[in-house]
Amino acid sequence: MFQSCLPTASAVLLLSLSPSLSLAATKQEYIDHTLNASDILNQQWYSQNDGMWQELWWNSGAILATIGDVALLNDGFKQTAVDIYSKSLTAAKAANGNSWLNEFYDDEGWWAMGWIKAYDVTQDTKYLDAANEIFNDLLTGNDATCGGHWWSKDKTDNTAIGNELYLAIAASLANRMDDGTSYQKYAQSQLDWFLGAGFFNENHTISDGLNVSSNCERIGAVYSYNQGVILGALVEMNTLTDNSSYLDIANGIAHAAIDQLAKPNNGVLTDVGYPVGPDPTGAQFKGVFARNLMYLHHAQPDDDFADFLQYNANSIWKSNRQGDGKLGAFWQGPLQNITAAAHSSALDCLLAAAAVSS
Ligand SMILES: *[C@@H]1O[C@H](CO)[C@@H](O)[C@H](O)[C@H]1NC(C)=O
Ligand SMILES: *[C@@H]1O[C@H](CO)[C@@H](O)[C@H](O)[C@H]1NC(C)=O
Ligand SMILES: *[C@@H]1O[C@H](CO)[C@@H](O)[C@H](O)[C@H]1NC(C)=O
Ligand SMILES: *[C@@H]1O[C@H](CO)[C@@H](O)[C@H](O)[C@H]1NC(C)=O
Ligand SMILES: *[C@@H]1O[C@H](CO)[C@@H](O)[C@H](O)[C@H]1NC(C)=O
Repeated sequence: MFQSCLPTASAVLLLSLSPSLSLAATKQEYIDHTLNASDILNQQWYSQNDGMWQELWWNSGAILATIGDVALLNDGFKQTAVDIYSKSLTAAKAANGNSWLNEFYDDEGWWAMGWIKAYDVTQDTKYLDAANEIFNDLLTGNDATCGGHWWSKDKTDNTAIGNELYLAIAASLANRMDDGTSYQKYAQSQLDWFLGAGFFNENHTISDGLNVSSNCERIGAVYSYNQGVILGALVEMNTLTDNSSYLDIANGIAHAAIDQLAKPNNGVLTDVGYPVGPDPTGAQFKGVFARNLMYLHHAQPDDDFADFLQYNANSIWKSNRQGDGKLGAFWQGPLQNITAAAHSSALDCLLAAAAVSS
């Protein structure tokens, strides 16, 4: 199904027959592409004034994790990431009324995940403190109808993303705090609930939410990011408990997501329907899946995942890239809807392809 980009005889033949089809063949090329896109992201959109990219709030929390993964991939980028973390820790917080909090628990969750990545890159506990400060506020949303975690502070919606982020943060903090016991309890009870709560549909993908006014029936479409955050959360749970069945569950979700969201679209990951035109929220989704698939591949390698990530990275480079290097919202092209969200999301896939290549 997915085109391999190993330099096989057929790939070489394909290249010679079709010079316009530039297949990235080596890990180094994927790394070069990743670094080019990372530099463009920061030059075009990062503000030293507000510590955000294009003034996008939750997206900037997610991008903190992206640039951390670029730094973990390539040591030459580390100082850039360190400088951004240091700047954003004060400037982004100041831009939000000196707080990481707002009305949306999931927005808070993206920032917590970003600060956990900053800790992984720097080993500086001030970033873990920021994540923990956010987690303490997330605990006030722990009483949702249907179980699990509320999406926002008006406590009306029970969403997959809110629940997955809460799980991922609790498990990640359990693995990193000096005393992780209480975090582990929150993570375990959240996971046990999530797996049986009804989010999984007949295709084994995760629907967007539960209807709190109708017997907790699942509602909404199947978005890529809801198939993504859970993968990283399950990897953290495997680390925490040494129960490898969490990796098997993650493997099943990842294959189902690729079957449902990429295979019908010629192998290219596609979110249908959020909203009809891709705004910066929807544009961020696909990269979240790609990056978390990379975490799963590290924990439990699967050739299908490497093929998927390389194929999608090739499509981005070939069909979704402007002459100056900016990346758009549709990985199959045509190039359109360039934003910091679309660009960083595509960057997630480039870096994941680099990381899984040998
Ligand atoms: C399950 O897959 C079938 C076939 O691809 C599709 O028609 C259906 O809409 C999917 N269901 C959900 C909930 O995504
Ligand atoms: C949730 O259930 C209520 C009550 O049955 C219904 O009116 C509403 O349309 C449902 N929401 C969705 C998104 O299906
Ligand atoms: C490992 O996790 C699975 C899935 O939640 C569970 O069914 C099983 O009991 C767990 N195993 C142990 C030893 O806790
Ligand atoms: C990225 O590559 C493009 C050419 O593909 C080039 O024009 C641009 O200057 C590069 N940008 C950076 C920051 O390296
Ligand atoms: C996305 O790009 C298309 C084509 O340029 C444009 O018509 C549409 O308005 C854009 N959507 C957004 C949200 O900017």
